[in-house]
Amino acid sequence: MSPVLISLSPNTEADDLRQAWQVLLKPWQWRQETFVIHLEQLLSRYFDNRPVVMTSSGRAGIKAALSALSIGEGDEVIVQAFTCISVPAAINWAGAKPRFADIDPTTYNFDISSLANKINLRTKAIIVQHTFGIPGPLQQIRQLADKHNLVIIEDLAHSLGATLDGQKLGTFGDIAVLSFGRDKGFSSVFGGALVSNNPDLIKKINQQQNALPYPPRWWVAQQLIHPLLISLAKTWYWRGHVGQVIIVSAQKLGLLSKAVQLSERRAKEPQHTAWRYSPALARLLNLQLSKIARYTKRRQHAAQQYRQTLGITTKQLVDSPGASWLRFPLRVTDKTKVLASAKQAKLVLGDWYDSPVTPCAGLTTYVGYRLGSCPVAEQASRETINLPTYPTIRPDQLQQVISFIRSQAS
Ligand SMILES: Cc1ncc(COP(=O)(O)O)c(C=O)c1O
Repeated sequence: MSPVLISLSPNTEADDLRQAWQVLLKPWQWRQETFVIHLEQLLSRYFDNRPVVMTSSGRAGIKAALSALSIGEGDEVIVQAFTCISVPAAINWAGAKPRFADIDPTTYNFDISSLANKINLRTKAIIVQHTFGIPGPLQQIRQLADKHNLVIIEDLAHSLGATLDGQKLGTFGDIAVLSFGRDKGFSSVFGGALVSNNPDLIKKINQQQNALPYPPRWWVAQQLIHPLLISLAKTWYWRGHVGQVIIVSAQKLGLLSKAVQLSERRAKEPQHTAWRYSPALARLLNLQLSKIARYTKRRQHAAQQYRQTLGITTKQLVDSPGASWLRFPLRVTDKTKVLASAKQAKLVLGDWYDSPVTPCAGLTTYVGYRLGSCPVAEQASRETINLPTYPTIRPDQLQQVISFIRSQAS
């Protein structure tokens, strides 16, 4: 049985493991493009028949979208602080510059006045993050974008499955980017997609993606092994730390990949952005996407339990009915201490994001974030821990997390 671990393939169920085995054992099918086409059709149906193109990751998708929109050298793209390094890095890879706006502490999304202040003549686009699956302030962003003639890119890395006023996130902006990374709501270990109501734009990106080579077979094998090895490691996680040894050894042996390579923290573009999406991984994702409604309901249920039992008010955290709650953010006074005590209680909680741009190495040098420029995001990164909402968490484990948090308050 799996312990409470907020990361480490939190969405993998028994049928996902069977699927990974089946695909791993049939390498002659790893380049059958029909699996990708089928997946694009499935996603397109979810997004009310908007055209879709798969990419090798979310960050590869952001770069591809910006390039197709001719946003590059001399241009600026506004992103929020309290984000992952992949977002500003992908803007840099496209040749443009990220500019950071501060957040609203109750939504972890853009503070509209900070966003408005960052717009200048070089601004070409706004990336709306929908942090933790909480919808961003789309109506106000649309007004700003229309006024200044800016493109809205919705970043659905945290929020596939979420809605705002009954409308699916991803259908508000000019283009949406999805991520199917290992810790995301729906995973194929690596993967991304772009969705737009502009068919010409998606066609252009599709042509570019089709011109890219398939990832090498060793890399595909590494991703297919990921859910299998992680599942084994999770079972043994706390037994003499065998699980942790399995993970570290497998990484050292090159059997497991890392989500963000060390070199990316130094602004180096990873190899995978030059590859197209792998049809082998498409088969993992195909199964995961059949679970969108069920997984979203379970995450929403977990979030509701936390909100009610921990007495969280809407002044502390917005209660957006359509939010998909990839993780449930909670403020604590001593983040390091609470996360360490949780580990002692055999609960691995989350630390997103522990810096205004995570991971934080070279914040100023490589990412262009100026410390002190987004104080609300900086405070949030010092105080926020994440409680697990993943779909495979059991009711008794949810209770365990709740009891632990209560014990910290007393
Ligand atoms: C908010 C956000 N957007 C985009 C990405 C990039 O996704 P990917 O890891 O698929 O490149 C991430 C990655 O963690 C993220 O957290």
